[in-house]
Amino acid sequence: AALTLLVVFLIFADISEIEEEIGNSGGRGTIRSAVNSLHSKSNRKQILKFLDAEKDISVLKGTLKPGDIIHYIFDRDSTMNVSQNLYELLPRTSPLKNKHFGTCAIVGNSGVLLNSGCGQEIDAHSFVIRCNLAPVQEYARDVGLKTDLVTMNPSVIQRAFEDLVNATWREKLLQRLHSLNGSILWIPAFMARGGKERVEWVNELILKHHVNVRTAYPSLRLLHAVRGYWLTNKVHIKRPTTGLLMYTLATRFCNQIYLYGFWPFPLDQNQKPVKYHYYDSLKYGYTSQASPHTMPLEFKALKSLHEQGALKLTVGQCD
Ligand code: CTP
Repeated sequence: AALTLLVVFLIFADISEIEEEIGNSGGRGTIRSAVNSLHSKSNRKQILKFLDAEKDISVLKGTLKPGDIIHYIFDRDSTMNVSQNLYELLPRTSPLKNKHFGTCAIVGNSGVLLNSGCGQEIDAHSFVIRCNLAPVQEYARDVGLKTDLVTMNPSVIQRAFEDLVNATWREKLLQRLHSLNGSILWIPAFMARGGKERVEWVNELILKHHVNVRTAYPSLRLLHAVRGYWLTNKVHIKRPTTGLLMYTLATRFCNQIYLYGFWPFPLDQNQKPVKYHYYDSLKYGYTSQASPHTMPLEFKALKSLHEQGALKLTVGQCD
């Protein structure tokens, strides 16, 4: 009970600190500050010392062959064999080779997006990154529709598509994949052994139905590189979340980065409850002790970059 109290206290302490700053910044809940190119540039330079985003965003065909054995990053004792299907879907060149964008949006999945009206603003960015196949159609007013890259942790297949137990769920996933319409589908296939079959199911579906997506499978060193960068900056994250991975990668190819849907707190700035995800009923407690993530700590780091003008965080409504 004492531990729970402490956790609750820490969460609220964090929120009131953030609220103070929002209060000072004015506006309708959006933390205001222009993204400063100079700060973005120096940030990018630092990150580049740790990772080569163009390469680390995906393993390429030339570097693996069917039958190769890979040790999972988080379960070093478990291995997987590179299947023929996975091999087929590895890109020949980096999906972001020589790419550069003026402004990018990274859309996290917090319920803070609900009633934000941010859809249009998000869609106006040159490159839009989304996480974990989050639905867009039904929430377009708040989250937009444009998707240039979307991530898919294998666990999504279980959580959002009932592990494809029957034809209906397989069809649902297939429709979602078809709707991606040429975007990059980024699948962390080598992180944890639990996702083995799920990755194979998705690969099979894509090939069998000629789904128009550009698949990417992050390199084995990406996670260590990202962790290394943040640790050097005294952000002691256990396991970076998808959102933080995306931000870190995006610094390489985006001049200005705008974050939406990053709010790992159970209450909003007006003390109203916020859903953990804008689209499902997963509870906030999901991120607490049992989770490998340290989202509030990540948020603090991102907020500090926002204050320096290196990125822009929107945590309320858009104008
Ligand atoms: N996020 C957030 N606040 C929330 C929910 C999500 O800031 N309440 C951000 C996190 O950076 C997260 C991203 O949005 O990585 C995407 O959300 P989600 O799909 O929940 O990602 P993960 O937690 O990384 O996925 P998983 O639970 O499968 O590890």
